[in-house]
Amino acid sequence: MEETIKILVVDDEKVIRDGCHRVLNGKGYQVLTAENGKIALDILIKDHIDIILLDLKMPVMSGEEVLERTSSQYPEIPVIIITGHGTIDTAVECMKKGAYDFITKPFQFDPFLLTINRAAEKRKLEQKAKNLQDENVKNLYDLYLEKSRLRTIINCMANGVMVNNRNMEVVLHNPALMKLLEISEQKENPLPLNKIIRNESLVSTLDKIQSGKTSEGEFISQEIKAMKKTLRAISAPALGPDNQVVGTVTVLEDITPFKQLDEMKSDFVNMVAHELRSPLAAIRQQNSVILEGLAGPLQEKQKALLDRVIQKIDTLLDLINDLLDIATIEAGKTVQRQIPLDVSQIMENMVALMSAKAQEKDIQLACSCQNMKTIFADPKGIEEVFSNLITNAINYSPSHGKVEVTAEGLNEYMEIKVMDTGFGIPPDELPKIFDKFYRVKHPQTRQVMGTGLGLAIVKGIVEAHNGTIEVESTPDQGTTFKILLPIIK
Ligand SMILES: Nc1ncnc2c1ncn2[C@@H]1O[C@H](COP(=O)(O)OP(=O)(O)OP(=O)(O)O)[C@@H](O)[C@H]1O
Ligand SMILES: [Mg+2]
Repeated sequence: MEETIKILVVDDEKVIRDGCHRVLNGKGYQVLTAENGKIALDILIKDHIDIILLDLKMPVMSGEEVLERTSSQYPEIPVIIITGHGTIDTAVECMKKGAYDFITKPFQFDPFLLTINRAAEKRKLEQKAKNLQDENVKNLYDLYLEKSRLRTIINCMANGVMVNNRNMEVVLHNPALMKLLEISEQKENPLPLNKIIRNESLVSTLDKIQSGKTSEGEFISQEIKAMKKTLRAISAPALGPDNQVVGTVTVLEDITPFKQLDEMKSDFVNMVAHELRSPLAAIRQQNSVILEGLAGPLQEKQKALLDRVIQKIDTLLDLINDLLDIATIEAGKTVQRQIPLDVSQIMENMVALMSAKAQEKDIQLACSCQNMKTIFADPKGIEEVFSNLITNAINYSPSHGKVEVTAEGLNEYMEIKVMDTGFGIPPDELPKIFDKFYRVKHPQTRQVMGTGLGLAIVKGIVEAHNGTIEVESTPDQGTTFKILLPIIK
């Protein structure tokens, strides 16, 4: 809402004061009156006045004197001189001393209002300009404050921060980064990235971000080695005003202690699993001997009980084998036994092996090959991949479903797909299913036994073969796992 303009009419003639009051009020102005200069100056001290209408000939204090005082104290207020016909010269004199305009008595309605309106317009424009300027100053101050606040935050952060421009030069870094990279001397920005860190995978990530290949809001997390430490580097694009990529921001954290702890944990799990496997296998074997009646005849009830015992031992042995698999894969050992391989044989064998399980649930299990090519792979590992994916497809499908396994040679890859028409996986769960021990909590699959290691093992094996695995799923419609393995040229 616009504020009303306040006009102060200073005249010793009551008729003029009242006349101005009536006319200007009628035009939406707020009007204050003073019968002499002294009263006018008092009002100016207390009130915010926009325009002064000032008579020249007044008792107590002359109009000229009032004008002199207002011009020096309130230069922003336009003063309009009221003058009789005979004293125009004096009015002109007043204009030279800083009056805004003059009007002559007796007033003519239109010119009078025109003059007032013009002065009011000037006041409003000046006020607007002043507001804009104030705002500008405030914005600049805020910006400055924001910048220095940001600087302080970055400098106090325990993690290393590095901002790079498009030329791969570091344009901003914090003390924590220098400490992480064990650089003691002061480095002035901008400095080439390779002067402080040499890491190909980080450089290629930053390249990828700079070329705009990442989607908005996406950041890339990777582990890199530097100065015998393991660092987690999280990089994201730095965007300019038009949302174009002007550089990259990377935050680095030292995760060496976590890595060591993780290794210790893996070693421990590995050791325990190993130690448990042999005695368990022995227990299973002895139970089988008893069950087969080799230690004397058994009654039906005893047989049933021993059967359950063996089933439970088998579940335990599966878990232990999974744990050992994980440990081996993490140690990167699977890659050592690679041979030239046509996967069709393994695929058909695994499908045949699983068909009994599929039949139990009345699930159609089929496989097909096309344009087969040789890959360089570990047969045991590939077996494991098929076994896990097909078992999952059967386990996580209702009865009467369909599971299809295909292998097809493409240009550079063998593409292996395991498709089912099962319960599917909700989109927000998809990124987590390859994590160790992660299982989707779903009422329809609650009865399925499992440890959540299968897909972690599959992913580990595929990656050890320089391959990729992807999953697409629609809840209640089905899931497709797609694997690409590089073929031998
Ligand atoms: N084909 C599928 N359809 C629907 N959900 C699936 C499918 N495959 C995997 N999942 C979901 O992903 C989770 C992880 O699978 P993963 O094979 O790693 O573990 P698991 O089957 O639970 O146990 P195990 O270690 O015995 O294989 C499963 O618990 C299941 O919720
Ligand atoms: Mg599984």
